[in-house]
This record gives sequence, structure tokens and C-alpha cells, in this order.
Amino acid sequence: MRNRITVIGAGHVGETVAFNCARLELGDVILLDILEGIPQGKALDSFESSPIFGFDSQVLGTNDYADTANSDVVVMTAGLARKPGMSRDDLFYKNVEIVEACIRSATAVSPDAVIIMVTNPLDAMCEVARRVSGFPRERVIGMAGILDSARMRSFIALELGVSVENTHAFVLGGHGDTMVPLARFSTVAGVPITKLMTEERVQAIIERTRKGGGEIVSLLKTGSAYYAPGLAVAEMVEAIVKNKHKILPCAAYLEGEYGMTDTFVGVPIQLGRKGMEKIVEIELTDEEKAALESSAAAVRELIAMIPATVG
Ligand code: APR
Repeated sequence: MRNRITVIGAGHVGETVAFNCARLELGDVILLDILEGIPQGKALDSFESSPIFGFDSQVLGTNDYADTANSDVVVMTAGLARKPGMSRDDLFYKNVEIVEACIRSATAVSPDAVIIMVTNPLDAMCEVARRVSGFPRERVIGMAGILDSARMRSFIALELGVSVENTHAFVLGGHGDTMVPLARFSTVAGVPITKLMTEERVQAIIERTRKGGGEIVSLLKTGSAYYAPGLAVAEMVEAIVKNKHKILPCAAYLEGEYGMTDTFVGVPIQLGRKGMEKIVEIELTDEEKAALESSAAAVRELIAMIPATVG
């Protein structure tokens, strides 16, 4: 039997996740949205590309959670984008409501799934999903670090004129302006970038990585990034369904690791069939530790805003 991968939200990110999971034959994909016709149309279009790509995954579009039953992985991308006149707080509460409703319905029919959260603000929405699902922390993970490190890697490759395949980047912390890109663990063919470019260029790359999401929004004007986020999710799905034990930077719920408890924050984790197999702890300098703690403090402020009725 093939794996079943549910993607909630058939917007830009959701459709990209669904298409890539199908194309990579990670399993059969069920794309769900509240809008009628949109998930069905996008799923059919994806499926009709299968003879060209040569994949045999099924792609089903639906508005009914019953069709998502017994999924191995549930990817949550549904949410609202900020509209003119809407405050950041209004958006936060609206997305809490959407995540609560979607995760409740999805986990009722897929009680053993691994949840991958994508809806922003990412780390706080992970906590909403954790409370609503009642799942252990191993099965509620957020996508952020792979995207942030992919952005950093692409900027490193551009700067040095090398293949992106030679690059590695390390980004910790919450998904936002407070993220912590670690230059000394970011390398080209194993050599730290701090030895390959000036401190000024390293800082410029770090700054561009931190503002990577905003750079795309300011160009698109009416939406946010989806190619790189969609593929980043597909990499997580692949690590899970193929039980790769792959170490990837993801948002995880800390219970003492890095000296922190009761909060989601981006850290390297090992991903396999059961979800998060372990959190990889690396030794940080005092400065890096302080940056990670202040990033986690920003996440905690948002988590504190989650209404007590959630969960
Ligand atoms: N149930 C199911 N789907 C919903 C619901 C709901 N209650 N509410 C909204 N949606 C759907 C919308 O109908 C829309 O198709 O979620 C989809 C969101 O799509 P887009 O607006 O295109 O947003 P997208 O660019 O995909 O981003 C989704 O990912 O990266 C994050 O910040 C981003 O939080 C945002 C999310």
C-alpha cells in the first residue's frame, strides 16, 4: 500500500507541496481546501501531468476530511494572508481559528499521522496544532529551517560562484526576523564561509537570509513565497515516508534541549517514519546561545497569545 499524504490548504504553498510529493512518488496525495472546485481542479491538473513525469501517485482534491482518513503525513498550509486593514494580531487569531478547526478534523480521522505545520506565524501555529491534536511532540513538527537554510545556501552559491550542491547552511531559531543563521557551521565543500569571504559579506548574506520571506513578498505584492517552501516540505515528507533518519533543521517542541522548555523553536532534528526521532544538540557560543534565546522569547510571546480555550 502506498503512503497517504494529506495537504490542507490548496493555495500556492499547498499546491506546490502536493505536486512535488506526487512527482517524487512519495505517496498518494489528498489535497483539501474549504473552497469548492479549487483542490479538485488543482489535483486533476497535477494528476494529468503524471504521464509526462512518469509518476504513479494518485492526486485527489476534496472538501471532505473523510477522504483524508488514515494519512501517514498531514501537511497544514491553510491560513489567511494579511489583508489591508488587518492587524498582525487579527491575522494571528484568525489563523489560530483555522489551524484549530483543520487540525481537529484531520487528526480525528488520521490519529497516527505526523503533522507538518507550515501556516504562519509558524512556531506559534505548531503549538496550536500540538495542543489541539494531543499528539506527542515527535509527531508535530514545523517547516522553517530547511527553507531558511536553502535561502542562505543559494545566496552563498551566488556570492562565491559555486554549485549550490557544494553548500551547506545552518539556521536555528524561530521563523522570522529573529532567526539565527550560524556562519561558522555554514560551509562550501566542508570549509566554513567565514574563511571564504569577508565578515562584511557574511553579515550581508545573514541579513538577506533573515529578510528572505519579506524580499519575496515585496516583489510579489499580493502573496508570499511558495516554490522553495513547497519543496522544503516535500523534503520533510520524504525523510518521514522513506524513514531516512535525516537530520534537518525544523521547528520542534523543546523539553530541556538547548536549555529551554515548553516552546517550539528551530533546531536540527532527525526525521524518520515516526516523525522526530531526536533533537540534535550542538554546542553554541555564548553569543549564539543568547541569539537563540532571544528568538525563542519572541516565539513565547506569541504562544502566550493563544487563547486558553484552544486544545
Ligand atoms: N480550511 C481549509 N482551507 C482553508 C481554510 C480552512 N478553514 N481557510 C483557508 N483555507 C485555504 C484557502 O482557501 C487557500 O486556498 O488556505 C489556502 C491558503 O492559500 P494562499 O492564500 O495561497 O496562501 P499560501 O501562499 O499557500 O500560504 C499558506 O503558508 O507560508 C505560509 O505564511 C504562509 O500562512 C501562510 C501559508
